[in-house]
Amino acid sequence: MVYVRVEEVLNDVEDKQKITTGFSKIRTIAVTSGKGGVGKTNIATNLAMIFRRYKKRVLLIDLDLGLANIDILLGLRPEYTLQDVIEGRKQMKDIILQGPDGIKFVPASSGIEELTSLSEKQKEMLFKGFCDLDEELDIVIVDTGAGISSNVLSFVLASNEILLITTPEPTAITDAYAMIKALSRRKKDLNIKLLVNLSNSREEAELTMKKIASVTRRFLNVNVQYLGYLLQDPNIPIATRLQKSFVKEYPNTTTTSCLNNMAASFLNSDDGTQTLGVEGYFRRIANETQPEV
Ligand SMILES: Nc1ncnc2c1ncn2[C@@H]1O[C@H](COP(=O)(O)OP(=O)(O)O)[C@@H](O)[C@H]1O
Ligand SMILES: [Mg+2]
Repeated sequence: MVYVRVEEVLNDVEDKQKITTGFSKIRTIAVTSGKGGVGKTNIATNLAMIFRRYKKRVLLIDLDLGLANIDILLGLRPEYTLQDVIEGRKQMKDIILQGPDGIKFVPASSGIEELTSLSEKQKEMLFKGFCDLDEELDIVIVDTGAGISSNVLSFVLASNEILLITTPEPTAITDAYAMIKALSRRKKDLNIKLLVNLSNSREEAELTMKKIASVTRRFLNVNVQYLGYLLQDPNIPIATRLQKSFVKEYPNTTTTSCLNNMAASFLNSDDGTQTLGVEGYFRRIANETQPEV
């Protein structure tokens, strides 16, 4: 394991970004998985913490409608959710919570399952709330839940970038493949990055990646990029129980260093494409269109 100091990567990323982008834009990342319990919420939340260290303005949205639990992991208690915005009781600014280190957090609720069946007025409430947010953000991370239900698929497909989490378990691999297949049926040119979590070794993670990449290339004609892996780390369940972020609780560990490297590689992989922002993200879901961006 090569340890990389956060500051070193920070300088590198900032330099590269100055050269390659030159304009501000929002990257939307949908964190998803085929199988549940593979680490999505922990990874989404801790990635958000790392992006904050890179001085990115981050919004976390919990769209895991069945098992929403980012709030628990961040030790927050949401009083209101997106449902209150849609139904006109609250404005977006009233429901957004400030998480640790300045992460913004939007809690969803199972009421928003049918975004496509909202009335035009309700849609406008939703879009207007997010429109005001767009100027204050660099990165939006959406925790989408697991499995190939139509809800999860639409939350994933509306995003420009997809972070698919799997473990080396055969069931998780099969479900990850099923997820990629379902996505590829609905959209061409998917931008999928794979993270292998809960691995016993680097070799096991790489083998997992190879298995998935070879079948998706062969049978689906989809190229999945390998973002990296995290080992089984007993500190993560401890941090979870403490409702703390593991990158903060355990800054000098292999796991934090690995996730930091992945965050840096993610930031470096920015191809400069202009995106539709968080308002555009919800417009895509609510209007069930997937425009090419
Ligand atoms: N790399 C890891 N090592 C050890 N435990 C982990 C790791 N990643 C996640 N966990 C644990 O696995 C459980 C499920 O994680 P969670 O992020 O809630 O998954 P999901 O959101 O996919 O359901 C939690 O108890 C968490 O602490
Ligand atoms: Mg979760």
